[in-house]
Amino acid sequence: MGENTVVLEALGDEYFQDPHAIHAAMRVKGAARQVVLPRGLKVWLVTRYDEARTALADPRFSKDYTGFQPLFERHYTGESTPGLADQSLAKHMLNTDPPNHSRLRKLVTKAFTARRVEQLRPRIQQITDELLDAVAGQRDVDLIEALAFPLPITVICELLDVPLSDRDDFRRWSNILVGGYEPDRIQEAGTAMAGYLSNLVDDKRANPGDDIFSAIVHATDDNDRLDHEELIAMAFLLLVAGHETTVNLIGNGVHNLLRHPDQLAALRADRTLLPHAIEEFLRYDGPVNQATFRYTTEDVTLGDITIPEGEFVLVSLSSANRDDRRFPDGETFDITRPPGGHLAFGHGVHYCVGAPLARLEGEIAVGTLLDRFDVTSAAEPETLQWRASTLIRGLHTLPVNLETRGPR
Ligand code: HEM
Repeated sequence: MGENTVVLEALGDEYFQDPHAIHAAMRVKGAARQVVLPRGLKVWLVTRYDEARTALADPRFSKDYTGFQPLFERHYTGESTPGLADQSLAKHMLNTDPPNHSRLRKLVTKAFTARRVEQLRPRIQQITDELLDAVAGQRDVDLIEALAFPLPITVICELLDVPLSDRDDFRRWSNILVGGYEPDRIQEAGTAMAGYLSNLVDDKRANPGDDIFSAIVHATDDNDRLDHEELIAMAFLLLVAGHETTVNLIGNGVHNLLRHPDQLAALRADRTLLPHAIEEFLRYDGPVNQATFRYTTEDVTLGDITIPEGEFVLVSLSSANRDDRRFPDGETFDITRPPGGHLAFGHGVHYCVGAPLARLEGEIAVGTLLDRFDVTSAAEPETLQWRASTLIRGLHTLPVNLETRGPR
């Protein structure tokens, strides 16, 4: 090994089980560090709050997917270079910079405002009630399978009018695409997903309904009209966001309540705390660990570090959200702390479009679960398995015991 060779910290599979411990150690050392991710990609990981917030909003960190592939080739240290799963899945707003980003985002923002989303409340409540009716009377329940997964996926499939019957295929592809699998499997899932969505776009073109997806396909303003690949990518982004995120707001949230009985008791005693609790679920153990790919278009100084041009920069939202510099006692789960300021939905122009929907689903799911059942954990925390993804922080299963609550 040459004198100048720097040995980078390699994050192993243990990172998936407990990223928080590794982030805490990294925050002590600096604002950002170069690391090798578990599947071999060299990136800069931003771990402190101020620098994370800056990096999320600074245009010198580009998200333009056309620049990704050469960087994958340059920074991958494993055997076969990962790439975009399928080109036609890539042209979505989270992979573009303004002005193209603004053009794509404008088409959906109106559908997801807090006011529009509030109109979905009765339907979200109904789906939640039906899902919980189905497990009432059972003692051993996997909360992911029973509630956390089916609720958000049913809602987003209804909003886009996508057949629920296809959801097992879709879930499998989606999990592979965000789950850090081998490049071959990612490619295969990407091709299958793109083919499926392409048919769906054709179907919406021929048989429009009054759903959001049909509205986007048929947007009449010439400047707004999306090409076939942009339509596929838009559907992909909305459906994957619907599959992979809110499930873990509910799953991680209930998991943390069960691990902190004093917090669960506080919430039961004062139900007005529920919106605060949702914000604390997001801050303490949010669904997105590392935000999506960004890369430097020039040398950028971030805190005490200069990141050269042409490097991948991943912002760890999970780490920023536990930074004591911003959140006193950041490693403590406290549903009574003043809400706000966390980065779980990102920051800047790419701030999550679905935040109001996710919050509403989270509140209805957790509120109704606690109203109807006494919930206790049915597994030791160390036996629970976390998803092997650097993007998503979520449990494979959450075994609980449910006891129907009597009238109080
Ligand atoms: C608790 C649940 C959710 C969390 C934690 C979450 C988190 C995030 C984050 C962190 C980003 C920005 C990523 C980055 O800058 O790299 C983002 C963007 C986005 N999210 Fe969510 N999300 C959630 C639910 C949803 C839902 C339900 C939808 C569907 C409507 C959605 C749609 C989007 C879209 C379209 C973007 C891209 C926005 C843009 O590029 O301008 N999200 N989300």
